[in-house]
Amino acid sequence: MTISLITGTSTGIGLATAIRLAKDGHRVYASMRDLERSAPLRAAAEAAGVEIEVVALDVVVDDSVRDAVANILEREGRVDNLVNNAGIDEGDALEETSLGTFRAVMETNFHGAIRCIQAVLPGMRTRRKGCIVNVSSLMGRVPSSGASAYCASKAALEAASESLAAEVSAFDIRVVLVEPGLVLTPIFAKRRLPAAGSPYADLYRRSLALFPKLIESGSTAEDTADVIARAIHTSEPHLRYLVGRDAETILAKRARMTDEDFVAMGRCESDEDFYVAFARHFGIDVRPGDRTAS
Ligand SMILES: NC(=O)c1ccc[n+]([C@@H]2O[C@H](COP(=O)([O-])OP(=O)(O)OC[C@H]3O[C@@H](n4cnc5c(N)ncnc54)[C@H](OP(=O)(O)O)[C@@H]3O)[C@@H](O)[C@H]2O)c1
Repeated sequence: MTISLITGTSTGIGLATAIRLAKDGHRVYASMRDLERSAPLRAAAEAAGVEIEVVALDVVVDDSVRDAVANILEREGRVDNLVNNAGIDEGDALEETSLGTFRAVMETNFHGAIRCIQAVLPGMRTRRKGCIVNVSSLMGRVPSSGASAYCASKAALEAASESLAAEVSAFDIRVVLVEPGLVLTPIFAKRRLPAAGSPYADLYRRSLALFPKLIESGSTAEDTADVIARAIHTSEPHLRYLVGRDAETILAKRARMTDEDFVAMGRCESDEDFYVAFARHFGIDVRPGDRTAS
């Protein structure tokens, strides 16, 4: 039986991935930092008719990661797949994001994944078998303004994953980057709103205006879980998997823009100018109330 460890399975993409891999016949170790938040996952497993081992693992705590992985190795002798999904989305414009927030986001989204990878890699290397899936983001490749801590954490994860993929291919271990665009999950409700009266209020208002339209072309947690499962099972693996029409469109359109065009979008004088520039560069009309595609 295939042994899969997933981090951050209390909600969202992690929960959906746990159910999906269990349906695919894996023995799933669904981990979360607070076992008291396990009810939605347990209910989903029951509804799907699958069995899941729910275990405690906080990706920012060395002992927690070490103990969780040691327990699985003791029971199963191996971890075949690690899905580094745990993540947080905090921080606003760089000036208004404390160093503490930068550190917290990096600690979870980047160092948390590294910690888990280092815990499973010796076993995978010895057995010359394993797949490490890092749930990154489109924003790791196309940074957006107003979210520098999150974008930086995902860009770091992208770079380290690419290095790692080449390092461990000699040991027949695969590394996968899954890059969703917008996925409607509880991550957004957990986000604190930026301070009122900010000098970056225009930026925050315009960023918020993007959401309803991007949700229309975004994907679900189940879509992302499906991509993760296919990336694990495929016989023709890739390093990167984009998820969602929004991610595909924005990545392709950004590649055709100059950096100067991208920077200039931050100088739009009015919201209307911003909507026009966004539609021109990305082909998506994000003007509130007008949902006509341009
Ligand atoms: N939603 C999107 O649009 C989107 C797009 C691209 C990439 N992603 C990435 O997808 C991943 C999953 O996010 P999601 O959208 O499914 O959000 P979510 O529903 O908030 O799930 C995040 C999960 O990570 C867990 N977590 C946070 N800090 C942790 C820690 N220190 N140790 C262990 N678990 C921790 C959360 O647990 P708690 O319940 O305890 O907070 C939760 O289970 C993240 O890496 C995110 O960056 C999301």
